[in-house]
Amino acid sequence: MSLNKDLFANKSKSWDMNSKRVQNAKGIADGIIAKITLSPSMEVMDFGAGTGLLSYFIAPHVAKIVAVDNSPSMLKEFHAKSEEFACQTEVIEKDLSTQSLERTFDGIISSMTIHHIEDTKALFATFYAMLNKDGFIAIADLDSENGDFHSDNTGVFHYGFDREVLAQCAKEAGFKNIAFSEVSTIEKPHTSFTVFLMTGVK
Ligand SMILES: C[S@@+](CC[C@H](N)C(=O)[O-])C[C@H]1O[C@@H](n2cnc3c(N)ncnc32)[C@H](O)[C@@H]1O
Repeated sequence: MSLNKDLFANKSKSWDMNSKRVQNAKGIADGIIAKITLSPSMEVMDFGAGTGLLSYFIAPHVAKIVAVDNSPSMLKEFHAKSEEFACQTEVIEKDLSTQSLERTFDGIISSMTIHHIEDTKALFATFYAMLNKDGFIAIADLDSENGDFHSDNTGVFHYGFDREVLAQCAKEAGFKNIAFSEVSTIEKPHTSFTVFLMTGVK
């Protein structure tokens, strides 16, 4: 099931003002740069790119980032920053859980988005089909949590992920060399939440 409403309409303008979010994106990007051999010829999709926090840190290492997101308000912020990214960028408004995108990429990166997608197995199958030979995935999201991370869980289909279950989904889609690392911790007043980076290749 997909929700047609722009769930980020009230958050998009101030999204980048939260320094914890920026730090989290930087930690994820550092993890990607450490684990994946990026190259200046690569075209990469940032799935659920939002305002481009992750794209910003990956941009100096690739030729082009295609920002795919179903929130027009978040993509508006991404587009407004086009000049700030150190690579070419393209913005595509699309919900990959219900719509297809007939494009292929050298890699797919994603930060804090896949918990918004109900059918994880179908998403990995979509990612696999959208990758060139030897293409990579580098997907970051929360480890399993008790539902306290978001103040409002509308549009949240997973309270984080069990790494083994997620690895199995990726394996079933055909991905190889699946590996995990911890790339960030997000502190909230009541508790802290760890963020994993899962990498794999086609
Ligand atoms: C928590 S935000 C993360 C944004 C950005 N990656 C970051 O780290 O700041 C999740 C993003 O995923 C997008 N999203 C949620 N469901 C989606 C879907 N089905 N298709 C495409 N994008 C989606 C939202 O619009 C939002 O921009």
